[in-house]
Amino acid sequence: MKTKEAVLIDPVLETAKRDSTLVKQLGLNLLYTVNTHCHADHISGTGLLKQLLPGCRSVISKDSGAIADLLIQEGHHLKFGAFALQALATPGHTDGCLTYVLNDNTMAFTGDALLIRGCGRTDFQQGSAETLYNSVHKKIFTLPGDCLIYPAHDYTGQTVSTVEEERTLNPRLILSKEGFVELMNNLNLPKPKKIDVAVPANLKCGIQDVPI
Ligand SMILES: [Fe+2]
Repeated sequence: MKTKEAVLIDPVLETAKRDSTLVKQLGLNLLYTVNTHCHADHISGTGLLKQLLPGCRSVISKDSGAIADLLIQEGHHLKFGAFALQALATPGHTDGCLTYVLNDNTMAFTGDALLIRGCGRTDFQQGSAETLYNSVHKKIFTLPGDCLIYPAHDYTGQTVSTVEEERTLNPRLILSKEGFVELMNNLNLPKPKKIDVAVPANLKCGIQDVPI
């Protein structure tokens, strides 16, 4: 808090003005707007935040195929104040998904790779159920059990879980790899409503002609 340097993970267009107001009220210096992946279900707030808070830089993985001020890969550290977010490659939902882990391993921001008692779908955007299973088990479930999990979505209003909770209670990820692949490949989900708008916009980190 001494330096007031801050990062914002997975901002969305609808709340970008709210977020910029909060950043200003708290006197924060927003260094980065960080995207866990190229979302298909909503437009990133990154483009608008860059207009509202000049100086903040957009971040996404190099493997996402999107453009941003900073394209990163596993092992990259985003430093802010006394902290850093370490990027872990957790592909499977998309091929460019990153999980960001706080440098003291107390928090992980998993995007759609791991949700609370669920996970992101694997049937488009180069998704692969087998790859996602390996990512979650090798990269996320090996973090400390009390590491807090903050996912990109929760459709029931929950905001946080832990590695231990998901390792033992996630109904999809406690399955064998074969069982998981079978389940994920037979979800038959409808296409996200905004995919035709959101993906092209997010390949540019949400930078589009939006009125402030
Ligand atoms: Fe997603």
